[in-house]
Amino acid sequence: MSAAGKRVSHESARAHVTGAALYTDDLCGRFPRLLHAWPVTAPHAHALITELDVSPALDVPGVVATLTASDVPGENDTGANRRDEPLFPAEVMYHSQPVAWVLGEDLDAAQRGAARVRADYQPLPAIVTLRDAVARESFHSGPIRLQRGDANEALAASPHSLEGELEIGGQEHFYLETHAAIAWLDESGGVALHSSTQHPSETQEVVARVLGVPRNAVTVECLRMGGAFGGKEVQANPWAAVAALGARKTGRPVRVRLTRALDMALSGKRHPFLARYRVGFDDDGRLLSLLATLYSDAGWSLDLSEPVMGRALFHLDNAYFLPAMRAAGYVSKTHKTSQTAFRGFGAPQGMLLVEEILDRVARRLALAPEVVRERNFYREGQTTHYGQAVKDAGRIPAIWRRLLESSRFAARRAEIDRFNRTHPHRKRGLAITPVKFGISFTATVFNQGGALVLVYRDGSVQVNHGGTEMGQGLFTKIGQIAADALGLPLNAIRLMPTRTDKVPNTSASAASASTDLNGAAVMDACARIRERLAPVAAVMLGCAPEAVCFAGGFVSVKGDDLGRIPFGHVTEAAYRQRIPLFAEGYYRTPEIHFDARLGHGHPFYYFAFGAAATEVEVDGFTGQYKVRRADVLEDVGDSLSPLIDRGQIEGGFVQGLGWLTLEELLWDGEGRVATAGASTYKLPSWSELPEEFHVDFLERATEPGVVMGSKAVGEPPLMLAISAREALRDAIAAYGPGGEIPLASPLTPERVFRAIEDQRAKLCTFASPPTRVVRA
Ligand code: MTE
Ligand code: MOS
Repeated sequence: MSAAGKRVSHESARAHVTGAALYTDDLCGRFPRLLHAWPVTAPHAHALITELDVSPALDVPGVVATLTASDVPGENDTGANRRDEPLFPAEVMYHSQPVAWVLGEDLDAAQRGAARVRADYQPLPAIVTLRDAVARESFHSGPIRLQRGDANEALAASPHSLEGELEIGGQEHFYLETHAAIAWLDESGGVALHSSTQHPSETQEVVARVLGVPRNAVTVECLRMGGAFGGKEVQANPWAAVAALGARKTGRPVRVRLTRALDMALSGKRHPFLARYRVGFDDDGRLLSLLATLYSDAGWSLDLSEPVMGRALFHLDNAYFLPAMRAAGYVSKTHKTSQTAFRGFGAPQGMLLVEEILDRVARRLALAPEVVRERNFYREGQTTHYGQAVKDAGRIPAIWRRLLESSRFAARRAEIDRFNRTHPHRKRGLAITPVKFGISFTATVFNQGGALVLVYRDGSVQVNHGGTEMGQGLFTKIGQIAADALGLPLNAIRLMPTRTDKVPNTSASAASASTDLNGAAVMDACARIRERLAPVAAVMLGCAPEAVCFAGGFVSVKGDDLGRIPFGHVTEAAYRQRIPLFAEGYYRTPEIHFDARLGHGHPFYYFAFGAAATEVEVDGFTGQYKVRRADVLEDVGDSLSPLIDRGQIEGGFVQGLGWLTLEELLWDGEGRVATAGASTYKLPSWSELPEEFHVDFLERATEPGVVMGSKAVGEPPLMLAISAREALRDAIAAYGPGGEIPLASPLTPERVFRAIEDQRAKLCTFASPPTRVVRA
């Protein structure tokens, strides 16, 4: 009878595909006299604003008002972690930064008004590449350090060593729903908003700050998002603030919705990284020492870049024991959009580095990469470089062995080698890589969740909680949890839109922890309600309260279904006895702590594990490739919702594939995002999906201490796509004599082609050796 563990569809699946699902901007029609906002954007990456005259905009028919710094009654700043994001800047910090906004009766009027605004600029030198920022030591912060042992000494004592550099490209979130907010005044003068935000409480906080009002004057609601992927964790706030400011100034509802081109030009992306490293290892390929310096391209403001760098450093080990290591991370300041959270939150960049290193080590020693990887796995009892014991470390080799078997890795390896010997212009490659991903916000305070569960007299239920739905299936899982906790069928539970006036002071729906936190809080609220209903039911059933059982929409004596009473009868009786039918719930993650100064502690409640084996085929004439097959084995604990979990794994893998092999962000010399649309930015589509895709869950993987024994699944699968990059390398190697193969990231077909050319050049004794280094 239980709902948890059942293969139920996403609660909005039907609405998603029929178009019935509403998103923030779809709600416009509910607001008569709605105004539309459009920004005045700066044509420089870095400049002083020497003159700004918005008055000509007001001459345009249909323009109702303009917004500039003088309209801000509170603080002219929307920075989430540092007050470094003026909403109306005096100094332009990235190309296309909004310097003023125009409100019109329709979008056309607002746009025409914005075009009439007179702005003059004094251009300033801009830093638009990461290398330039590093060379000039343009940093927001850093170094952030983690270390274990004496890495220099261990390096000196190592039989072998390597050094190198890896450039890692960023990634555009490309959520289907671009940034959007609608604000209106309520009759008390407070401001209400619909916002496409992963973090309604912070949107509320920032709007209140800009308006100069207490937080109780601002209510933020998020019905659902059409994707977020981290891009709406803090970056929804400025648009909400503009809408709120407009509503306050005009007394009319105001809508902000970025077009795709604006969204790509103005919103932050996954951080590009530059990594420099030295590594020491033994004859067997065991890592003995790692020295690494990471630089992230954070763009113009700090945003979440410190914790993103932190997570990169925490995940430099991926699934491998690093006996000695020393790492430093610098958050670089450039005149670009402010780069932000993106699925994996820095961990993908950290893991990519160690996977790159292990592949080089293997090829240097002429060993199979999968053998070298396996030799370096954590063993039970070992700790990470930040001092946390790797609980269940045994799951890494267990998953590995099972996947090698289920994917027929060895047999396919032999088949591929045969294929490659007989096909000079097409080569196949196969690789397997693991993922170990820490679950919890690394800032301990965020690891809390809240809920408010309302039961009506008829036994129907509304569930409010702090999490937001962005397509990841959180609401589906919460519904399943509440149904089981109250012994009701799924359809008796209604999930309400996320609102700051229902559950306050919530954390962002992020770090893959939303079910762990909010699901546990909902469980807690439901338990309270059950405790209150049990004595009422006990009298009705003539049993002890402890013997009361809630299941399938009925209340009965445990083990005796005959005298069961409908749940609604018990709630009606409880109401008549003046017993409250609603309860709040709360959860805080136990055990976690971290001392940032020492770089030591237990920042993660647990680790999510997984592995993927991927096979590709590469065309030697063009560098085009296809993913022939991907096999994934993921540890999701006891899957709360197998269809949702499978969707997260497939989607995460494909999004990772896009990041590593297709999606290339380019900025021009002026610092303008050159890839500002789907026409120039290649996303994975149907044709890039693995032709064969096997997804399995690790069995008997109950996670004690997490809601219903489940594990987080939102981000970890993204990093499984590293196996595809390594498979491409394997195929490229087959075009030449082997040895180390330097690869940039993303590994686009053009880059694959050049890497093949380099391999072929190695074969040709008359050609000069390749001198070109392939770079991002
Ligand atoms: N899945 C979909 N469909 N859409 C999204 O925006 N965001 C990802 C992941 N999966 C996302 C998604 C990110 S970045 C995170 S942190 C988690 O979902 C957040 O949700 P969770 O905590 O419920 O896993
Ligand atoms: Mo996800 S990057 O933690 O929103």
